Amino acid sequence: MDTTADIKSIAIIGAGTMGQGIAQIAAMAGYRTVLFDIEKDALEKALKSIEKNLEKGIEKGKVTQEQRKTALGNISAVTDLDEVKADFIIEAIVERLDVKQKVFAELERINSKKTILASNTSSIPITQIGAGLKHPERFVGMHFFNPAHIMKLVEVISGAATDDKTAMLTKELAENLGKVAVMAKDSPGFIVNRVARHFYVEGLKVLEEGVAGMETIDTLVQSSGFKMGPFQLMDLIGVDTNFSVTTSMYNSFYQDAKFRPSRIQQQKVDAGHHGRKSGKGFYNYE
Ligand code: NAI
Repeated sequence: MDTTADIKSIAIIGAGTMGQGIAQIAAMAGYRTVLFDIEKDALEKALKSIEKNLEKGIEKGKVTQEQRKTALGNISAVTDLDEVKADFIIEAIVERLDVKQKVFAELERINSKKTILASNTSSIPITQIGAGLKHPERFVGMHFFNPAHIMKLVEVISGAATDDKTAMLTKELAENLGKVAVMAKDSPGFIVNRVARHFYVEGLKVLEEGVAGMETIDTLVQSSGFKMGPFQLMDLIGVDTNFSVTTSMYNSFYQDAKFRPSRIQQQKVDAGHHGRKSGKGFYNYE
């Protein structure tokens, strides 16, 4: 792509917590939006959630009926990766290097030489993901925040091989999607997740050491001005995703003890208590 005006279509890979919000803003900004997931159920859930968000927007007077109709008309949902052809592709699947690399290699093979590939990874270095590509110069980090249709910030991360033009187009696209883009260096967790990691890790340590219970920790943190406490926020993010991010950062920083993942969180993941999306996490949502 030479300019953002050349970007007419955006594909989102993964229709989970983040993919659905990113698809919503892409469709609302007028892009032909392709939403892909390996799970049909995940796509159905995502489309319902987008509809619900748009309805809420109408109730609040922030979205018109016409905008809702146009946005929903712009989205197509697919389970066949061969159908994912777009000018700009944003990946939001499981936080695992091997899985991401495999999907990107396939996307690169089936798409045009001009397509820009972006990852919404929270913690895996962009240089590492891009190393599996033939053209890492067209690969970039585009890190949205949860909920993606509301939070304004996007970190744009250049890997060692990312072209400056790719990074600038990504920044401009983020702005066209109504976001505020910040350029970040390629370092584990980039800016926000690196700083915020201690919010979760330390909260879990306080719980593990029996200093206080999770409701007390959440209530106290909230009363000191935060919108959510660490356990409420892990449930919103996805306990599994949050755990993968901590594990990936711990390993990327050569087992620096300050990022060590918690066994309590490991148990939640093993039990399938992944937070709001699974109906149960640290709290119960059923
Ligand atoms: P999620 O677990 O809610 O959703 C992931 C989706 O990807 C699922 O629907 C799953 O079926 C699908 N998926 C898994 N493997 C796939 C594959 N090989 N091909 C296609 N689809 C596949 O995950 P979530 O939370 O949306 O995270 C996705 C990415 O976004 C991760 O890299 C995460 O680090 C990042 N992220 C997450 C944030 C959060 O608050 N949850 C915030 C910012 C970034």
